[in-house]
Amino acid sequence: MRLLALESSCDETSAAVISDGQILSNVVSSQIALHAQYDGVVPELATREHLKNLPVVTRQALKEAKITPSDLDAIAATRGPGLPGALLIGLKAGQSMARALKVPFLGVHHHEGHLYSAWISLTPGEDFPCMNIKDFEPSVALVVSGGHTLLVHVPEPLKHQVLGGTLDDAAGECFDKTAKLLGLPYPGGPVMDRLAAGGDPKAFDFPRPMLHDPGFDFSFSGLKTSVRYFLRDHADIAESEQGLKDICASVQAAIVDVLVGKAIQAAKKLKVSCITAAGGVTANRQLRESLVEACQRRRIKLKMASGVLCSDNAGMIGALAWLKFTRLGLQKNMDLLLDEEPKPHWDIPCSVNC
Ligand code: KG4
Ligand code: ZN
Repeated sequence: MRLLALESSCDETSAAVISDGQILSNVVSSQIALHAQYDGVVPELATREHLKNLPVVTRQALKEAKITPSDLDAIAATRGPGLPGALLIGLKAGQSMARALKVPFLGVHHHEGHLYSAWISLTPGEDFPCMNIKDFEPSVALVVSGGHTLLVHVPEPLKHQVLGGTLDDAAGECFDKTAKLLGLPYPGGPVMDRLAAGGDPKAFDFPRPMLHDPGFDFSFSGLKTSVRYFLRDHADIAESEQGLKDICASVQAAIVDVLVGKAIQAAKKLKVSCITAAGGVTANRQLRESLVEACQRRRIKLKMASGVLCSDNAGMIGALAWLKFTRLGLQKNMDLLLDEEPKPHWDIPCSVNC
């Protein structure tokens, strides 16, 4: 099955071609430079950029995969959650192509796409990354991005149940908002990651919100507020280069401790011996190192999304759509989906006893 996938939920326009689970092309056009001028994503500008860039990335993805539209057996696009106008561009483009080509269409949940991206890897000897679901083990999935922080129990492929999520800011949002308080450019996550590498994570003791609470919810707004008060009382520290690095390292350590701690607690409670991690924040080096260390110590298998698959991309949307088409036999009766509307607010579908 050859499938074209489109992703346009926020500030990345992306198209990918998937053939039997292999990602043949995954073209991403980022709008970060545009939105950085405004210190955050401007929805109307994002929509216009998607409209401009979607045909470009789609043509490029087909070209790199060496196929033409008539070779496609199915189309998928992100249906939600995300910015309404931004979602509309990719979803309606995908549905129109599917209608014109008379192939089935599937609207994909963005967070579910991130979740399963941890199972995409490059097998030695293969040319393209592939959804390696044959390696699947019952797992706890940590999904961490700018818009979401989730812990999900995944006993079987395509069967999952959300254990907890953020009650306020997402982990990536906490990085971005804290970076803004420190006067760093948007998006702050990667910048803090770089600065933190030269800082002392134990320099300042920021709170680890809800780390020892029962349950698997997160809350990061209090951490952001504590950084605000810290800067009010110690403005001089952030003015020195080393002080800034120490603050970044200490904030990062607090976020990472909570994410890793909760993931380990969930794995223990559910008695699973595999943790997966995906989403933009998974690019964070300290998070990756801490997950590796914590999982090794407890003999827990760890699967993490890598490279371009961490942040928003159509490859993960297409790989999940391929899995759904093939495992769930979705090719039949797909016509109705051609009229589906975007779902800007959409809880991750729960498919285990709920
Ligand atoms: O998955 P993603 O590209 O988009 C959403 O679905 O939100 O995630 C973007 C988020 C941003 O908040 C960004 O600051 C964060 O991921 N991020 C990082 C790093 N790279 C991206 N956060 C911490 N360290 C990084 N290296
Ligand atoms: Zn995302």
